[in-house]
Parts: sequence; C-alpha cells; structure tokens
Amino acid sequence: MRHLIDILELSVEELDSLVATANDIIDSPEKYAHKCDGKKLATLFFEPSTRTRLSFEAAMYELGGNVLTMADAGSSSAAKGESVADTAKMISCYADIIAMRHPKEGAPLVAAKNSTIPVINAGDGGHHHPTQTLADLLTIHREKGRFDNLTIGLCGDLKFGRTVHSLIGAMSRYKNITFVLISPEELKVPDYVKNIITDAGHSFVETVSLEESMPSLDILYMTRVQRERFFNEEEYLRLKDSYILNTDKLINAKEDLVIMHPLPRVNEISVAVDNDKRACYFRQALYGKYMRMALILKLLDIK
Ligand code: NCD
Repeated sequence: MRHLIDILELSVEELDSLVATANDIIDSPEKYAHKCDGKKLATLFFEPSTRTRLSFEAAMYELGGNVLTMADAGSSSAAKGESVADTAKMISCYADIIAMRHPKEGAPLVAAKNSTIPVINAGDGGHHHPTQTLADLLTIHREKGRFDNLTIGLCGDLKFGRTVHSLIGAMSRYKNITFVLISPEELKVPDYVKNIITDAGHSFVETVSLEESMPSLDILYMTRVQRERFFNEEEYLRLKDSYILNTDKLINAKEDLVIMHPLPRVNEISVAVDNDKRACYFRQALYGKYMRMALILKLLDIK
C-alpha cells in the first residue's frame, strides 16, 4: 500500500505517468467515469481549505466514487481530544482512501502509520503540499510543454509556503533548472529545501527584487504571506504587502511567461493581471482536480 506524504516519494517516471493520466482524463473523461464505483474518499481537514478539499471531492465524484467529508475539525472528535492516530484507525473502517490537511507538520505521516488505507497529505503546516505540486506540474506541462531548461521564480513567503517547498523538491528532479528565490530576508526558503536544490546539482539565487528578476523568468510562482503561521501579528502586517504583482511589473517579462499561484490570493496579484494571457492560476486550480483523479487511481491501484 502506498501513501503520498512528500512529493519526493514519487519517482520522475511516476510523476510523468500521473501527468499522462491527467491529460488522458481531460481528453476522454467518459473512460474514467466509473473507475471508482463503490469506493469512498474521506476528506479530513483540520485547517481551512476551498480548492484542495473541493477538488479532491470533485475528483472522486468524477471517478464515480463517493465522499465522506470532515471539513471542520471543530465539529469532530478532535475537538474532544482524539489523537490523529486514533482518527486514522477509525476512518480506515469507513473509507478506502484518506486526504488529510493538518496544521501540525507530520500529522498526515502519523495518520499513514496508523491507517490500513492510503493517506494523502493535503497540506501539513508549513511543511509539504504534494498534491498542489501535482497541480503545478500539470500546469507547467500544459503551458510550457516541458519540465527541463526552465528558470523558475518563486516569490513571497518562501519560509512558511508549503507549496513552494514541495514544488522545489519536484522541479529539482528535472534537468537544467534555475531557481530564483524572491522574498524578504525574514521569509527566505528554509535550509533543508535549499539543500534539495544543491544536492540535485541545480543553482539558485536569492533576491529581494521581483522587478530585477522578472526578465529572466520562464515561470513566476507567486505566493500568499501565510498569516496563520506567524507568531507575531505585527511582523505579519509589516511583511504582508512585500510583493504585489501588477501590470506595470510585467512590462519587462517574457511574452511566454507563465504566472502561477496556488491560491487563495490576498492582494499579492492585482486583479488587473487576471486579464493577461500569461495568468494561469485559475487554470492551475482546475488542473488540480485532474491530477487528484490520477493520484486516487494510482493509490487505489485501479488501472
Ligand atoms: C495553499 C495551501 O493551503 O498551502 N493553498 C492551496 O492549497 N491551494 C496556499 C495558501 O494557502 O496560501
């Protein structure tokens, strides 16, 4: 039985195969409409979510399966003090696969160790978010047609942004990738993530300037400053508007730049940018559903 806790658990061949399945689902959805008949996905969300939970649920419905949902931990036995381990053991009796989001780093791993069904990490604290990365990879594949030879700018909260950590891990597996890490000093990428880049033989630059980086970028991945991870509200207020992408800042960008964002956006991308053909973030949210369909099939071992 396989779980998905960290994107690095999937080989490059497996990532490529998930992308191929998702592309096939987009082309021929009817082939997949009954693949999960009689199966149940449990979505256990101990942290707010719109896209991730609903796209998992839409994914399971589009495969013919059903969903048991716990969208609000405040209404579950976690509020009575039940451990993640016990919750996972119990849900294993009711469902065939679990998607779990939790504010504590490592909670989905604990669930996986105690579950008799596959567990998918739908975001654990400031750590990892492997299924957002699957959405990101399909976006890059469909927009750029390749995973190699890319300069990727990641901008915003690179310290707490779990989507950034997982995406860097995945892209480090491909050839000739340059990472441009654009953040305030206080929100730089953690060392363990930088080590993944250098261990893979890639280079990175750290900078505070989005404008100076812009002309070199093939992909610009904007992120929200993660208010819920700050210990100090004043520090959040000081840093929250560090970067606001607007149409002026795109003047020196490449014609075929791909602008991504895992969403939700607060105000780090101005609404006027949505009309630019390079803005891909709403398509990216749609692609997340197809990649989650491909992942559910893989982990349930359904061909
Ligand atoms: C991201 C997350 O939850 O980490 N959102 C998402 O899953 N699409 C990014 C964020 O919350 O800023």
